[in-house]
Amino acid sequence: MNQQLFAAVDDYISDLLALEDEALTATIQSLENEQIPQISVSPTQGKFLQIMAMLSRARNILEIGTLGGYSTIWLARGLVEQGRVVTLEIDPLHARVAQQNIDRAGLTDKVEIRVGQAMEALARMIENGEGSFDLIFIDADKPPYTEYFQQALRLSRPGTLIIADNVVREGKVLDADSPDEKVVGVQRFNTMLAGNSEVTATIIQTVGHKEHDGMAIAVVNPV
Ligand code: SAH
Ligand code: DHB
Ligand code: MG
Repeated sequence: MNQQLFAAVDDYISDLLALEDEALTATIQSLENEQIPQISVSPTQGKFLQIMAMLSRARNILEIGTLGGYSTIWLARGLVEQGRVVTLEIDPLHARVAQQNIDRAGLTDKVEIRVGQAMEALARMIENGEGSFDLIFIDADKPPYTEYFQQALRLSRPGTLIIADNVVREGKVLDADSPDEKVVGVQRFNTMLAGNSEVTATIIQTVGHKEHDGMAIAVVNPV
C-alpha cells in the first residue's frame, strides 16, 4: 500500500543516520554470495539496536540467531569498552560466514559465536551460571520465541533489556486462525509477554525496506 513510501523514507533516514561502512556492506554481500537468506535487520534497525546497547551501557550482550552477523556487528558497536557479545547460531555455514564478517569488522575479540541449538546453548549457560546479560536480542526461529524469552529471563537481572524481532509479521498476528507456525509462535510470545509480570514491555511496529513487522521491547522489573 505505502510500501514504496516507507522504503523511500527508510533510505532517507539510513542515508542520514545509519550509513553502512565497508564491513556492513560486505556482510550483506556475503549473504548473497553464499545464498543465505537476506533476513538481517535493516540499517535503521541495526542503528536502533546499537543505540539500545549504548543506552543499556551494555558490557554483556546475548544474541539468539546470528545469520551473517549483521545485527551482531551493530550490537557490538554499542558495547562499552571491554564489552562482549555471545551469539547463538544453529547453522554451521551461517556461523562460518558470520565469523568472517565479524573478523572483517575488527570485532574478533568482542564477539563469540556458539554453534548449536539455541535452547541447548541457553540451558548450558544457565547451568554454568553465565550472565547476567545487559541486553538480549531474540531473532532465531519463531515457534520457540516464548521459551527463548523464558530462558533469557533466567540470564537477566533487573534492568536487562530484552528485544525480540519479527513479532508483527505484516499484521498476520491479527489472524487468530493463521496456519503459519511463525505467526503462531509470535502470537503465543506476544500473549505471554502481555501477561508477564516480571517485565514492562511494548511492541514497536517497524516499516521500511523490510516488510511491515515489529520489535518487542521488554525491560526486567526491579525485584
Ligand atoms: N539476527 C540476524 C538475523 C537472524 S536470522 C540479523 O539481523 O543479522 C535467524 C537465524 O537463526 C538464522 O541464521 C538461523 O539459522 C538461526 N536459527 C534458526 N533456528 C535456530 C535454533 N534453533 N538455534 C539457533 N539458531 C537458530
Ligand atoms: C524471517 C526471520 C527474521 O529474523 C526476519 O527478520 C525476517 C523474516 C523469517 O524467517 O521469515
Ligand atoms: Mg529478524
